[in-house]
Amino acid sequence: MPRAAALLCLALCAGGAHAADVDAAAMLSLARASGCLACHAVNQRKIGPSYTEVARRYSGQPGALQTLQNAILNGHSGTWGIIPMPAYGGSQQVLTPAQAGDLARWVLSLAAHQPAPKP
Ligand code: HEC
Repeated sequence: MPRAAALLCLALCAGGAHAADVDAAAMLSLARASGCLACHAVNQRKIGPSYTEVARRYSGQPGALQTLQNAILNGHSGTWGIIPMPAYGGSQQVLTPAQAGDLARWVLSLAAHQPAPKP
């Protein structure tokens, strides 16, 4: 799975992220290493929503960072469809809360830098 995600990302994610206040390259690597990109891409809906559409939905909302950090740590379902997002925190300990916060900050940073998706 991680290798497939990495290959997919090579094909799809190149040049996708431009963030001012987070290290976008490091976050993309962390997302890839954590398996996120098996279900997500920056600009394209896969099993989960694209990070750009997540950013667009939440940017400017109070508590957005906390909401996304919690979704990454605890899992989430019901916002985007019926498929659940797996949990990466808690007893799994795949990601620390700080890493989940950095990933959430990165996702939110994508809103301002991406053109609107084509319908
Ligand atoms: C097995 C597939 C899968 C993997 C792996 C996965 N996600 Fe998700 N993710 C989803 C799905 C499906 C949703 C939509 C959940 C919903 O409808 O609330 C989602 C939603 C999200 C959201 C939006 C949450 C919200 O409240 O709207 C964020 C942010 C996110 N994922 C980040 C990540 C990150 C970061 C990783 C890796 C650490 C990751 N995802 C790994 C499937 C996945």
